[in-house]
Amino acid sequence: MTTPQRRVPLLDLGAQHAPIRDEILAELIPLIDSQRFIMGPDVGELECKIAGYSQSKYAVACASGSDALLLAWMALELGPGDKVITTPYSFFATAGSLARIGVEPVFVDIDPVTFNIDPNQVEDALKRHTGVWAIQPVHLFGACADMDPLLALGQRYGAVVVEDAAQAIGAEYKGRRCGAIGAMGCFSFYPGKNLGAYGDGGIVTTNDPTLAELLARLRLHGGHEKYYHEFVGINSRLDTIQATVLKVKLRHLDAWTAKRQQNAATYMRLFAKTEAPVVLPVIAPYQTRHVFNQFTILCPRRDELKAHLTANGIGCEIYYPLPLHLQQCFEELGYKAGDLPVSESVSQGALSLPVYPELTEEDQQYVVDAIDAFYRAK
Ligand SMILES: Cc1ncc(COP(=O)(O)O)c(C=O)c1O
Repeated sequence: MTTPQRRVPLLDLGAQHAPIRDEILAELIPLIDSQRFIMGPDVGELECKIAGYSQSKYAVACASGSDALLLAWMALELGPGDKVITTPYSFFATAGSLARIGVEPVFVDIDPVTFNIDPNQVEDALKRHTGVWAIQPVHLFGACADMDPLLALGQRYGAVVVEDAAQAIGAEYKGRRCGAIGAMGCFSFYPGKNLGAYGDGGIVTTNDPTLAELLARLRLHGGHEKYYHEFVGINSRLDTIQATVLKVKLRHLDAWTAKRQQNAATYMRLFAKTEAPVVLPVIAPYQTRHVFNQFTILCPRRDELKAHLTANGIGCEIYYPLPLHLQQCFEELGYKAGDLPVSESVSQGALSLPVYPELTEEDQQYVVDAIDAFYRAK
């Protein structure tokens, strides 16, 4: 194999870090000097800022996006015997957070264009199942699921809507920020997210003061006053160090998002000049702000193309190779291949390309040329 001329990683956190290094250190050093690592003042400050950013009244920080989901289900007091309708085309935590507390995920298929949960399939599932207390859309890759029909169905069938917004901070649905369109919104600060910590982190947003209070206690072992516990929660605090880093990075998030959107538009323009048989992302009219956590194409001979890009120094990833309903750990739920055909076929064809803010047009041209050359060769 010849050495690739260029390297374009899937994500370049070093390039993001370099220009903000001094700004971050200026805030971290006083924190380290103060030694207030647990529930320090920056945690509360970050919660206020994220609540404002996501147009919600409250935000409760926690240790990860997975815990944000777990805390949301715990706040709704869901447990064995209860069901939640969700998408099988997502990161594992979407369903794992439910199964972890004995709740059954009911998987329904996705829309073939947006890859988000299909509201028509949700209605069918609500008719077929009893014990469904919530609907969990995932705003996949940074674009909102179609919330209005989901909210209407939730009202009609007595189910709350909880948004898995892990990949979508700042995304908008009909001009409204995700996170408090449903009863709660769960975000991840995993480093690869648009707003990434220096480790794990998450937050739950809500407009409901009772849920906010419950979430705040649940993340501290259910306690209110230290060493007095009215119910059992978990230990899921956000480290102050992460809150400090996130507070600084939040100042840059809109500029980074604008760059991601610009990069997506550049891909559209560059691919339009080729005959590569790939399906590009489509933005639905209600997805008024797509934040492009991923730029995901559908492509024939996907695994071969991935190998070709890797050999040419281009980072790319398959999100997600096996839909959740076919995961071994959910075997006992009884799904089989063919049950959710759209999710299954998208899993076979999806490939995410670099779209991070620091990417240059030359990098993107290199990616598109490599894809074009692959399809021209055979
Ligand atoms: C859709 C979705 N849900 C939940 C999570 C879980 O977040 P975390 O990795 O912070 O636990 C992620 C993050 O990877 C995600 O992409």
